[in-house]
Amino acid sequence: MSEKRTVLLGVSGGIAAYKSAYLCSRLVQTGYDVEVIMTKNALNFITPNTFEALTGHRTMIDTFDRDHEFSTEHVSLADKVSAIIVAPATANVLAKFAHGIADDMLTTTVLACDCPKIAAPAMNTRMYENPVTIDNIDILKKYGWIIAGPGSGHLACGASGKGRMAEPDELVEIIGDTLNKKKDLTGLNVLITAGPTREALDPVRYITNHSSGKMGYALAKAALSRGAEVTLVSGPVNIVPPSGVDVVNVNSAKEMYDAVVSRKYDQDIFIMAAAVADYTPASFSEQKIKKSDDDLSLQLERTKDILKEIGHSKTGDQVVVGFAMETENLIENALNKLKSKNADMIVANNTKEKGAGFGTDTNIITLITGSGKEELPILTKDECAHKILDKVVVMKK
Ligand code: CTP
Repeated sequence: MSEKRTVLLGVSGGIAAYKSAYLCSRLVQTGYDVEVIMTKNALNFITPNTFEALTGHRTMIDTFDRDHEFSTEHVSLADKVSAIIVAPATANVLAKFAHGIADDMLTTTVLACDCPKIAAPAMNTRMYENPVTIDNIDILKKYGWIIAGPGSGHLACGASGKGRMAEPDELVEIIGDTLNKKKDLTGLNVLITAGPTREALDPVRYITNHSSGKMGYALAKAALSRGAEVTLVSGPVNIVPPSGVDVVNVNSAKEMYDAVVSRKYDQDIFIMAAAVADYTPASFSEQKIKKSDDDLSLQLERTKDILKEIGHSKTGDQVVVGFAMETENLIENALNKLKSKNADMIVANNTKEKGAGFGTDTNIITLITGSGKEELPILTKDECAHKILDKVVVMKK
């Protein structure tokens, strides 16, 4: 490690706090400068002296503790910190982080930090599975927190189940990965399409599909974290976009086409993750279509293929990536799409496989380029996004 980076270890009040001492020691051994903030409740489980002996710094406890260097300027700690790890993170402290409550040294400092944040939840299974906790964790993920664990096994309450704090060695690895994340897209403009499109029949009805937009949004987040200027052309979804991304909201395939094509000269990389409708109603009824006793046939016409248009008009140094969602003949169909759309890569997945496709947080993808295919195991959509970008970076060189 060239320069010594500061990791802030937040310790909240759970029995797993005893593991934080080992985590702290491992972080120091790995070469980090470690600052520790404990909540008052954590003092019931472990003493500040333990962390002081390990880090060589005074352990911070409360905003009103006026006796140490950050007494009035705790925000200066926020400036110095490269990553935050809160371990154990109780249901209570997760709830506070999720809702911006800053009522002690730890929550105040975390709110003031804009560095990567990792939480290692540890609690009783029922608390972890309570919808309130689940929602709070989802909120934190939306704000970019990395949630490590929890694992399953024996819990301090005597029960066995989900809620064990992730192992310290695993957490040290996650911190390393987070801090050493590549910035290999710096200076590049990346345009990503995401979500479904809506093709209106009349003022109240439309044709759409089940795309959640999760894959496209994961790509936007990953590209942003790797230094890209990201434009996200998004169909209607229920996801909060990562801040820092230029979001262009569209509804129909026509609007998505116009949004992408009008920006095509400014981009270095295109990733078409949207599930664009291939057909749209041939005519739009200005008035609501009234039912009759007869069956109704809809006349549909083809939409313009955005990926094909961009693939065939790309310049030599632009990289174009498309997706292929298939239910059969995955590789054959994806290879056909690679050729017919003149793409540099097709990300193929079989929607029938468990853990792949629409709405899930995971995906099982195969990366197909002119020089071969790479089958990947089941991964989170965030991990898939980075694998796709790893390949794009190589193609861009
Ligand atoms: N795509 C696009 N514009 C369209 C349709 C699709 O940009 N009008 C892009 C998608 O974003 C995706 C890829 O093309 O990257 C999907 O290819 P496509 O051949 O359209 O796949 P399907 O819609 O699944 O079509 P098919 O029914 O032929 O498999």
